[in-house]
Amino acid sequence: MILWYSGCGNSRFVADTLSKELGDDSMIFIPEAARQAAALEFGPDEALGIVFPVYSWSVPKLVSEFLRTVSIKGKPSYIFAACTCGDQTGLTYEHLCKDLSKQGLQLDAFFSFQMPETYINLPGFSLDTPENAKRKIDGTKESLSEVIGLIKQRAQGNYDKLRGSKTFLKSNILKPLFYGLLITDRKFTVSDACIGCGICAKNCPLQNITIENDRPKWNGHCTNCMSCYHRCPKNAINFGKNTIGKGQYYYKQGD
Ligand SMILES: Cc1cc2nc3c(=O)[nH]c(=O)nc-3n(C[C@H](O)[C@H](O)[C@H](O)COP(=O)(O)O)c2cc1C
Ligand code: SF4
Ligand code: SF4
Repeated sequence: MILWYSGCGNSRFVADTLSKELGDDSMIFIPEAARQAAALEFGPDEALGIVFPVYSWSVPKLVSEFLRTVSIKGKPSYIFAACTCGDQTGLTYEHLCKDLSKQGLQLDAFFSFQMPETYINLPGFSLDTPENAKRKIDGTKESLSEVIGLIKQRAQGNYDKLRGSKTFLKSNILKPLFYGLLITDRKFTVSDACIGCGICAKNCPLQNITIENDRPKWNGHCTNCMSCYHRCPKNAINFGKNTIGKGQYYYKQGD
């Protein structure tokens, strides 16, 4: 079973590749499972994979909450996790271990991949250049085959090489401030370029957007994944003034 969450497609690409190469087609989208309050059931010798993007040098809150509270029947025979990040992971591994320990589960192996940046909501934060984005995607494709081999061998350990520095400050001090002060949908605006196509609403993992009078309306339970901003075909969405002119990115099949 592969539990996955992705806003802009990077982690979805990793989850899809793992599913295909490991021959595990039981893929569960975490926000959907959370909405349905679905229970997870493991057969004998069934492994669990968890795939998600790094948010604020940690596990996204919605993933943490799901892992801590979901009802689980049976026990996975092996647990691996893979995260994607733009830059650094900080204490993501430790935070994930803590989430799983609430269910009496232990992480066997942890992997990280650098993928193109999606968070551009603050001054000083911007997208990767096309060259850098391609370099990251190519690097991930290359290391994925090694990671798949390790998972098949049931490898044990933390294989994350992207932890960076000042990890305690970033993951334990800045993360709560990030969620408390910066995660909001009140700053989203839509320009007259909007054609009311509904792509932003259709691709919101949290179903937080409704289309009213041919315009998106944000409904207050956003995690700032930025899918709506990046996928709008008219680039009509902005987050205050901070995203203006910064361009768009999401992972497209064939990238
Ligand atoms: C809200 C938010 C917070 C993020 N925080 C981090 C971070 O702390 N470190 C990092 O390297 N990348 C960070 N990123 C970048 C993403 O982890 C990265 O682009 C990831 O591959 C996006 O995956 P997705 O396309 O599956 O959503 C953040 C992105 C978002 C939207
Ligand atoms: S995706 Fe863009 S153009 Fe389409 S409804 Fe949303 S804001 Fe409007
Ligand atoms: S409203 Fe936009 S940024 Fe917020 S969760 Fe939905 S797609 Fe992501």
